Amino acid sequence: MTIHGQTTRDRRPVLVTGAAGFIGHHTAGLLLDWGFPVIGIDSFTPYYARSTKERNLSALLERDGFRFTETFIDSPGTEQYLSDVQAVVHLAAQPGVRDSWAEFDTYVQLNIHATKWLLDAALRHGSPRVVSASSSSVYGEAPVYPTCEGAQTTPRSPYGITKLAAERLCVAYGLERGLSTVGLRYFTVFGPAQRPDMAIQRLITAAHEGTTFELFGDGRQIRDFTFVGDVARATALAAITELPPGSVFNVCSETPITVNDVIEVVEAVSGQTVQLERHSVSVGDVTRTGGSADMIADALGWRAETSLEDGIRAQVAEYRRRMSLAGLAA
Ligand code: NAD
Ligand code: UGA
Repeated sequence: MTIHGQTTRDRRPVLVTGAAGFIGHHTAGLLLDWGFPVIGIDSFTPYYARSTKERNLSALLERDGFRFTETFIDSPGTEQYLSDVQAVVHLAAQPGVRDSWAEFDTYVQLNIHATKWLLDAALRHGSPRVVSASSSSVYGEAPVYPTCEGAQTTPRSPYGITKLAAERLCVAYGLERGLSTVGLRYFTVFGPAQRPDMAIQRLITAAHEGTTFELFGDGRQIRDFTFVGDVARATALAAITELPPGSVFNVCSETPITVNDVIEVVEAVSGQTVQLERHSVSVGDVTRTGGSADMIADALGWRAETSLEDGIRAQVAEYRRRMSLAGLAA
């Protein structure tokens, strides 16, 4: 069977950690679309509302081929799945740059220890491929733009440090222990059901509810916003493709834009003006991200395809759908 230029005969399931999360439920859905059974696990960490994650899961739970268990990664029950799967897509983590100064223990536990536990368990049980979510935050203020994977990594937040540690663990298990690991450095992902702490979701909420948007800094910071459907495609392709152990790829749209410009797009798409409340720059917030996708284009034939405007349209539509399901005006 050929999927997006990649040939695969292995129809065993894929285990998705963090399946109830933002990127996790999109990736699980795409793998099901491609005909792979999916085993999802998630512990519903309190980083944001459980009800939002349950909504993320609701469509998946109705689909053939999807099984879900509420559990922490590093609980003995997870081990039973590892020998039966062709790949693990490891998305579970404590996300978010700004909270990581205060809650470091949680970041270390969920991002580093849980990843190490998963890699050891994968080695004990059949060595499936492990595709793990890394982050553009590993670069900090990058030395060059567009930033290639070989660029220096100097994370500027505790979150970024834990993501880099987890990524380096995957590389070490790839190079030293023979596990087929792949690290994907996602750049600020957006789209339907984006996490509620992230800028575009907060802008959409402010536009629809008439509340204010807290703008950190002057809005001239730049992000390489990448659409979640494109991110799910990169992730699912990495899960079903032979790649050198310890591979690391950027997953970015290659179209960086300022937060001020994003505000204009949200206003245009939603037809509402957003009230801004100006705050100082958030500590550890980098001024610019912008990646090169050349490496993943060579390895997997992947490049982002969805424009910021189309992606925000889809995100607004999902926001309105969920508000109307909840019986609230949108
Ligand atoms: P998310 O919070 O929506 O999803 C993560 C899910 O993992 C949550 O549902 C949470 O309950 C679950 N989880 C956390 N720790 C767990 C554990 N130990 N056991 C079981 N479940 C656990 O976050 P997201 O935005 O979908 O991010 C997914 C991954 O991508 C994370 O690793 C994040 O660091 C990375 N990432 C995200 C972005 C982005 O812009 N969203 C960018 C770069 C990297
Ligand atoms: C995002 C994710 O939240 C991280 O999990 C991820 O690892 C990171 O991308 C990444 O690319 O690696 P961030 O770029 O901070 O982090 O994404 P947003 O939360 O959408 O913020 C984008 C910009 O808007 C930042 O400069 C932020 O300071 C600003 N912002 C955000 C505001 O001005 N106000 C807000 O309420 C939220």
